[in-house]
Amino acid sequence: MKKIAIFASGAGSNAQKIIDHFRTSGFASVQLIVTNKAGAGVVQIAMSESIPVLQIERNRFIDTGYVAELKKFEIDFIVLAGFLWMIPRVLLQEYAHKIINIHPALLPLYGGKGMYGEAVHTAILNAKEKESGITIHYVDEKYDHGEIILQVKCSISDQETPGTLAQKIHALEHEHYPPVIEQILKTLS
Ligand code: GRF
Repeated sequence: MKKIAIFASGAGSNAQKIIDHFRTSGFASVQLIVTNKAGAGVVQIAMSESIPVLQIERNRFIDTGYVAELKKFEIDFIVLAGFLWMIPRVLLQEYAHKIINIHPALLPLYGGKGMYGEAVHTAILNAKEKESGITIHYVDEKYDHGEIILQVKCSISDQETPGTLAQKIHALEHEHYPPVIEQILKTLS
């Protein structure tokens, strides 16, 4: 059984979909939620799903990556879903090619520091883009930069607002993130 840790600090809608997807799989399961925000929606989700929460602190994260804690939970794979801190080298080395992220735009466009949440969709609409989409990618030492695993596009209508675009993007994320995680886990020995 592959053990997944989800790093999230937001509402947690992707975390919920991933938990749901693997709940009955018998192949993998979400064993830990890691967050830097005690009040985040994802913490409520973890509590209602009886999944332990590891609340992390920035300096210790940079120094240790909380590797010992992740090992204690025997975590095999790390999924970022609305987690905004840079992943420290110590953690990248320990989980080489085993940390992935989802971004609400077509990277390398509209990525990087500060490009999260509504800011992404507002920038896309201001630039009069005709399409957007999601990117699932491996995590490396730069924001929104690692090798791309999957991109899925959606069109942008003339009436689009940041809110309606966010809804479209979330729907794509919820549809594609869990099966991509499953596919990658199946390739791990
Ligand atoms: C998603 O849009 C994801 O692309 C980004 O953060 C958002 C998290 O949303 N990395 P939620 O907390 O899963 O609802």
